[in-house]
Amino acid sequence: MNTQTTLSLLVSQKFIEIFGQTPAIYSSPGRINLIGEHTDYNGGFVFPGAVDKAIFCAIRLNGTSRVNAYSLDMNENCSFGLNEEDKPTHSWACYIFGVCREMIKRGYRVEGFDAVFCGNVPLGAGMSSSAAFECTFAFALNDLLGHNIDRLELALIGQATEHNYCGVMCGIMDQFASMFGKEGYLIRLDCRTMEYAYFPLDTEKYGYRLVLLNSCVKHELVGSPYNERRSSCERVAKHLGRNFLRGITLDELDAIKNEISSEDYQRARYVVGEEQRVLTVCEALSEGDLEKVGEMMYATHEGLSKEYEVSCEELDMLVDIAKECGVSGSRIMGGGFGGCTINLVKEELYDNFIATAIEKFANRYGHAPEIIPIVISDGAHRVE
Ligand code: GLA
Repeated sequence: MNTQTTLSLLVSQKFIEIFGQTPAIYSSPGRINLIGEHTDYNGGFVFPGAVDKAIFCAIRLNGTSRVNAYSLDMNENCSFGLNEEDKPTHSWACYIFGVCREMIKRGYRVEGFDAVFCGNVPLGAGMSSSAAFECTFAFALNDLLGHNIDRLELALIGQATEHNYCGVMCGIMDQFASMFGKEGYLIRLDCRTMEYAYFPLDTEKYGYRLVLLNSCVKHELVGSPYNERRSSCERVAKHLGRNFLRGITLDELDAIKNEISSEDYQRARYVVGEEQRVLTVCEALSEGDLEKVGEMMYATHEGLSKEYEVSCEELDMLVDIAKECGVSGSRIMGGGFGGCTINLVKEELYDNFIATAIEKFANRYGHAPEIIPIVISDGAHRVE
């Protein structure tokens, strides 16, 4: 039995045990991002793909105006109403509550329901477990209530939940990937126009593998300097009379260098560089030049570590080990402040890289990094 089936069965059985009825099952995945980090809220490009790790929920409308939710992983339950003043105290329940509220605010009727959920997206690993969570419930409620909300609006409902109920001023990448993921394909998304295109991820064809190394340093974007990074970018854009940093040149930025703080300058400089790197990667991918893709990944890591300052010692070490082992590309992935590196590695170097990373990392930090091979999978769906 594969993991998906096991998790679906688990939530289903628990639901029947608690609520005595047969539920519908829904699932929405976490994501990776090849390149284009901290570009989404700057109106730039991102390059994510959904993965085979997801949140699963068993759910059924209960004919009341209350929600009864049970977290299988935490063994906790929480009941709450659907009005603004009913905000639950459990932080995990705020994600579900937020999705309901954001739907209601947009004029969609939401009714009470019972739900049991669990998941296998590693928490705090930069793989968007929270977006997977929001998207699972947004997708499920839309389907159960027959609203016909499209996937983009569902993604926006997830993002608004983060902003208004969880305190993270995130961009749209994670929820978009969780909704629009397609097996075997990465998505190049232009976060200014929301235009997107699917790119096949043919790493095997060229003799490469993608693998995540989880430092197990827990990244928590709530309360992290994530929102400060976003504010820096917004200040610089405003100073330049623009809505976004997207499209500004290094010359334009340099011209105002003395008028903005050196920190804001550094943050914006990273974003300008990253925009170029994403475009270079698109070109390199279409030419099958994965060495070039890898080179850009290292450059992104350098920028995220030194200019954007969202890395940490453990992640820098994992990237250094990758370099030593001849890995083609390696960088911190996601919001930062912990979590995973994403690595593009030649097939023949894979085993040695993994063994070396485990040994060196464990020697320094007392535990091995978690090795997460990647399977690019479909987005939100009902599980039959
Ligand atoms: C988090 C956010 C995304 C994005 C990334 C950084 O995952 O949720 O919107 O900003 O960080 O690229």
